[in-house]
Amino acid sequence: MPFKTHRIAVLMGGLSAEREVSLNTGAGVLGALQARGYDVVGIDWAPGTSLPRLLEAEHVEVVWNALHGTPGEDGSVQGLCACMGIPCTGSGILASALAMDKVASKRIFESHGVPTPAWRLIEADVADPVAALADFPLPIVIKPSNEGSSVGVSIVEDRAQLADAIALARRYHGPVLAETFIAGTEVFVGILDGAVLGSVEVRPSTKFYDYEAKYKRTDTRYLLPPELPADVLARVEAHALAAYRALGCTGHARPDLRIDAAGNGYVLEVNTLPGMTATSLMPKIAAKAGMDYATLCERILASAR
Ligand SMILES: Nc1ncnc2c1ncn2[C@@H]1O[C@H](COP(=O)(O)OP(=O)(O)O)[C@@H](O)[C@H]1O
Ligand SMILES: [Mg+2]
Repeated sequence: MPFKTHRIAVLMGGLSAEREVSLNTGAGVLGALQARGYDVVGIDWAPGTSLPRLLEAEHVEVVWNALHGTPGEDGSVQGLCACMGIPCTGSGILASALAMDKVASKRIFESHGVPTPAWRLIEADVADPVAALADFPLPIVIKPSNEGSSVGVSIVEDRAQLADAIALARRYHGPVLAETFIAGTEVFVGILDGAVLGSVEVRPSTKFYDYEAKYKRTDTRYLLPPELPADVLARVEAHALAAYRALGCTGHARPDLRIDAAGNGYVLEVNTLPGMTATSLMPKIAAKAGMDYATLCERILASAR
C-alpha cells in the first residue's frame, strides 16, 4: 500500500451542519489506519481554526478527507490541498463541486442520459413559488441544492404544505429545487476506483430516509444485497456508475437512487464523501464484498491524488 511512510491526516469535523457525523467518520478511520501502522494524526477543523495552519503545524503529507457537507465535500478543501501540494482522498475539485450541487448534478446527469427524477428550480427571486409549482404533480420533494444528511428535505403531499417546505429548504445552502417523488425503494451503490463494490437497500421506518433514520434510529433496515430482481439491480448499478463517471468522480463515492415499482432506477445524487463509521453504508457494502473496514480505509487512502 502507498503512503506507508507518509505523514497522514484524517481531516474531520469541519464547519458544516454535518460536523458531528464527520467527527464519527474521522474517529473510525483514524483508529483503523493507526491499527494498520500508519503515521496518522486526526485533525479536527473546528469553527474559528485555520485549516492551512492546522495542516502545516502537523507537517501533513496526505489528507484522508473525512469531512461531510460544505465546506469540505464541495471541492474547497480539495482545492486547498491542491494549492498546498498535498494529495487528498476522494474526488477532485470539479467533481466534488458538481456532486455537492444537486442542480448542477442533475444538469450533468440529463446531458449524459443518466435517469434522475423530473425537477424544477425554484429561483430565490420568484415572487410566488407555490404558484410556480401549480402544474408540478404531487407528491413533490422539496430540497436545498447543496446540503446532505436529508437536512431541509420535505415530501409534500398537499399543496397547502408547499410554502412551509420551501421556506424550510431556503434556510440551508444553495437554491431550492422541487423533484418528482419516486415511490418505491431506495438503494445506495458503493463505488471504489471506478468499479461497483456492491449495493444496499435501505428501508427506513420513518416516512423517508431522513436525518432521524440515518443517525438516530435503530429500526432502519439494511438489505444486502437489495431485494431487487437481478436485471433491475444490474441496471441500477450501471446508472450509479454512469452518474459517477458523468460527474468525473474518482476514488470512492456512493450514489443514492430510488427505484419505482416498475423497476426504473433514478439517481438522486452522488455522495463523494460518504459516511465512513464502521456501521455506515459504504463499509457495510464493502463487508458484503469481503473487504473489511480497515482495508476499505486503506484502499481509499491509496486513491489519494
Ligand atoms: N425524488 C425523490 N423521491 C423519493 N424520495 C426522495 C426523493 N428525493 C429525496 N428523497 C428522500 O430524501 C432523502 C434525502 O434526499 P437526497 O436527495 O438524497 O439528499 P441528501 O443529500 O440530503 O441525502 C433520500 O434519501 C430519500 O429518502
Ligand atoms: Mg442522499
